[in-house]
Amino acid sequence: MRDKRKVRKAVFPVAGLGTRFLPATKAVPKEMLTVVDKPVIQYVVDEALEAGIEHLIFVTGRSKAVIEDYFDIQVELEQTLRDRNKQAELTLLDTILPTAGTTSFTRQQSPLGLGHAVWCARELVGDEPFAVLLPDMIMKGEKGCLKGMVELYAQSGGNVIAVEECAPDQAHKYGIVGVGDRIGDGFRITKMVEKPAKGTAPSNFFINGRYILQPEIFPILATQERGAGNEIQLTDGMLKLSEWQQFAAYHFRGTTYDCGAKDGFILANVAFALEREDIRALVEAPLKDLVGGL
Ligand code: G1P
Repeated sequence: MRDKRKVRKAVFPVAGLGTRFLPATKAVPKEMLTVVDKPVIQYVVDEALEAGIEHLIFVTGRSKAVIEDYFDIQVELEQTLRDRNKQAELTLLDTILPTAGTTSFTRQQSPLGLGHAVWCARELVGDEPFAVLLPDMIMKGEKGCLKGMVELYAQSGGNVIAVEECAPDQAHKYGIVGVGDRIGDGFRITKMVEKPAKGTAPSNFFINGRYILQPEIFPILATQERGAGNEIQLTDGMLKLSEWQQFAAYHFRGTTYDCGAKDGFILANVAFALEREDIRALVEAPLKDLVGGL
C-alpha cells in the first residue's frame, strides 16, 4: 500500500505575467528564459525529481502553452536530429522528458495571487501531502533544497517551509517566519507574515519559495480573503492552518537566485556558467576583464 505521508506530487505555479522581464516576456513565459542553456523551469523540476517527486503539476495561464510543449516530445526536431545522427542531442532530450502520465496542467484563470494558484491544483493533488516550488527561485547547494525538506519532513511530519536569512532591510519583500524550538536542520515556526511593514518582521528568516503542505490547506485557500498586495496569499492560508497543524522551517544553506528579478537572473547565469567546466574555460577570463575594467 502507498505510504500516505510520502510527498509524491509537486505544484509549480507558472501563471505569473513576468512584467519585470518585459519586453522578453511579451511572447516567452518567464519560466522559459534560459539560465546558461536550460530554461529556469528545468532547474526547478530537476530539484523536485531529486527529492523523489513522481508527479509534476503545473498551474499555468493563457500564453503559457509553450511550457506544456517543452515537457512533451518534439517529433519533427527529433526526426531531424536522427537524420543528422546527432546522438548526444537526442539523448539530452530524452533525459529531460518526463515519463508519460507524470505531468498535469491546469490553468489559473485570473491572477488572484499565489494562494489562489495553489488552490487551482486541489483536484490534481487530492488528499495527500504535496510540495510547492516557486519557479522564480533557483537554488544551488550540495543537496537540493526540496530534498533536504523531505528529509526533515520524515522526522517532523506536518508542514515544512524552507527559509533563508535576509538582510533585515529586505524583509518587507518576502514572507517572514517567527523562530521557535530547534528541530533537525531547522526550527518550529511560531508566526508567519507576508511582506511585513518595515521594522515589524518577527525575524530575518524569509520563505524562499519551497513548501511541503498538507491537503487541509485547500479548504482554507478556498475562502481566503485577499491580503498583502490585494492578492490571495499562501502565507495567510498557512498561518490559519498553523492554528492546528505543525509548521517546521528547513534552514536552506545553499545559494538562491531570484530569477524573477534582473540581478538574480544575471547572477544565476554567471554562477551556473562558471560551474560548467566547458563554459568556465570560455568565460572566466573575459568575465574577470569585464569586472576588473569597471
Ligand atoms: C512569494 C511568497 C513569499 C515568498 C516569496 C519568495 O512572494 O508569497 O512569501 O517569500 O514568494 O520568492 P512573491 O515573490 O510572489 O511576491
